Amino acid sequence: MLNINSLSISYGKIQVLWDLCLAIDEKEMVAVIGSNASGKTSLLNAISGLLTPSSGTVEFLGRRIDKMPAYLIARLGISHIPEGGGLFPDMKVCENLELGAYARAADGEKKETIQWVYDLFPALAARAGQLARTLSGGERQMLAIGRGLMSRPRLCMLDEPSYALSPLLVTEVFKAVRELRERGTTILLVEQDIKRALEMADRAYLLENGRFVLDGPRELFLQNDHVRKAYLGL
Ligand SMILES: Nc1ncnc2c1ncn2[C@@H]1O[C@H](COP(=O)(O)OP(=O)(O)OP(=O)(O)O)[C@@H](O)[C@H]1O
Ligand SMILES: [Mg+2]
Repeated sequence: MLNINSLSISYGKIQVLWDLCLAIDEKEMVAVIGSNASGKTSLLNAISGLLTPSSGTVEFLGRRIDKMPAYLIARLGISHIPEGGGLFPDMKVCENLELGAYARAADGEKKETIQWVYDLFPALAARAGQLARTLSGGERQMLAIGRGLMSRPRLCMLDEPSYALSPLLVTEVFKAVRELRERGTTILLVEQDIKRALEMADRAYLLENGRFVLDGPRELFLQNDHVRKAYLGL
């Protein structure tokens, strides 16, 4: 579904991503894990068209998208749920959701899709008329995910959904992500919480200083000495 080949990104003269290759099949859940400033957000921004790669290619469903504007990439079916959610705090829960449907041409299914999101996140249904800024941290993250789903994406990219949440809320949010995955959505998850990411993902890529240093199935990570010492505290 998604194929990244030899992708590099620079901000001015400073290169932050080096020669990344990554592939995701339909219905897979793949995690990119890495600590602060390793380049995770830059990678997602390059996929969703918010950044133009300095070299390399990105293909989605067999089409080159690395020079496409972001709104067209969204229309092709990639939803990017940014770090921190990017919600409209002074709009209601239901209004935030409705705005998420903009990338989708067919307006007729909007009601159905909102219902689908409310089924996935019952807490949002109960708070449809509440302003986004009055939601709890966990609810806000769910709203951000729900809004990202309103376009009925083929590929859903989540940037650190656990960020700034208490352990209890992290569990709640990850439960929702797992449910989403069970409903058949392809997911690219970017996470610092490596333990949690490995619990859920089929495969993972470890990003260190802008380079992938390890990739493979969960078991490979759990057995790797460097990962165990540096990230899992084992
Ligand atoms: N707009 C920008 N201009 C210049 N440098 C940037 C810009 N955005 C990011 N960087 C740099 O690129 C590097 C990677 O940043 P990025 O946000 O991709 O990392 P990250 O892995 O998402 O980090 P975090 O876990 O803290 O969100 C960092 O050193 C950062 O300072
Ligand atoms: Mg980031």
